[in-house]
Formats: sequence, C-alpha cells, structure tokens
Amino acid sequence: MIIAQETSFDEAELSALYGSVGWEVWTRDTTRVRRALANSHTVLTARDDNGRLLGLGRTVSDDEFVCYVQELLVTADAQGQGIGRRLLDRLKDRYAHCRYFILSTDHPSTPDGAANHAFYRRLGLIEHHEQGLSAFGRPIPGP
Ligand SMILES: CC(C)(COP(=O)(O)OP(=O)(O)OC[C@H]1O[C@@H](n2cnc3c(N)ncnc32)[C@H](O)[C@@H]1OP(=O)(O)O)[C@@H](O)C(=O)NCCC(=O)NCCS
Repeated sequence: MIIAQETSFDEAELSALYGSVGWEVWTRDTTRVRRALANSHTVLTARDDNGRLLGLGRTVSDDEFVCYVQELLVTADAQGQGIGRRLLDRLKDRYAHCRYFILSTDHPSTPDGAANHAFYRRLGLIEHHEQGLSAFGRPIPGP
C-alpha cells in the first residue's frame, strides 16, 4: 500500500470511496468535493499496488497553530487493516508542531460515533471536555 500526498482528484474515484461509507452529503456533488480537496492544506491518500483508492485524510490548517482534520475515511471493504491508522499517524506527524490537532465526529451514542471514538482513542486522541475545552459551531443544516 502507498500513502502519498495528492493535489488533483478523480470524481468517479471520490464517488466510489465516499459512497462506500454512505456519506451521501458528499456524493451528491462530487465536483464540489473535488474542489474542496484541491483547496485543502494536505490530502493524503492510501492506494493499493494497482492504484485503487483505499482511503483518504485531509486537513485545513494554518501550519502553525491549528490543524483541523476534516475527513478521514477508508473504503468499506478495506477497513480494519490499519489504513486509517497509517493515514492519521502521518497527519499527526506532519502537524506535530501545531498546538491544536482537532476534528469533529459523531456522538458516541450513534453507531458511527461509537466506532469512530474507539478508533480515535486508540490513536491517542481525547475529547475536548477531557481537557477543559468545548467546541461550538453554527447549527448544521439537515440532510
Ligand atoms: C474510522 C476509520 C477511518 C478507521 O479506519 P480503519 O482503517 O478501519 O482503522 P484501522 O484498521 O487503522 O484501526 C486502527 C486501530 O483502531 C482500532 N479500531 C478501529 N475501529 C475500531 C472499532 N470500531 N472499535 C474498536 N477499535 C477500533 C483498531 O483495532 C486498530 O487498533 P490497533 O492499530 O491498535 O490494532 C474507518 O473505519 C472509516 O473510514 N469509517 C467510516 C468513515 C468514518 O466514519 N470516518 C471517520 C469520520 S470522522
């Protein structure tokens, strides 16, 4: 498997990857997703030896104080093989100098949230409230 930084993206590949994890908000407009990736600070991809896109992680950052991990996903049939760990470890190293390395995910009371919390904790991340912080945001529009 190859982990690499990429800067241009194929919409059909993105659609297959995001669709495999059921992220319909993203697959609805893959042109916009492609632009979002191109505008990101870093996009890391994981590909198999045949070049198939297996996973992706992207950041928004000032490269000094803050790094926000906006997406981290591994295609459904390749999960549980260490790909998410490799992507997140690379991003943690890349932004080790930033005071804030943060992300949002679903609440642990949801099925996705329960799995994601276990993953992020395994990778050494902790929740805001455990370090005297809270996160705020404008209410997110419905699906
Ligand atoms: C969350 C996600 C990125 C994890 O990637 P992955 O490649 O499946 O995870 P890995 O195989 O690298 O697992 C890394 C570690 O986390 C642990 N882990 C992963 N999922 C877990 C779960 N549901 N419960 C408990 N532990 C879990 C693994 O056991 C592994 O531990 P180890 O390395 O010490 O053996 C992937 O499952 C995914 O894309 N899910 C759907 C999209 C999503 O929800 N992304 C996150 C949105 S913020």
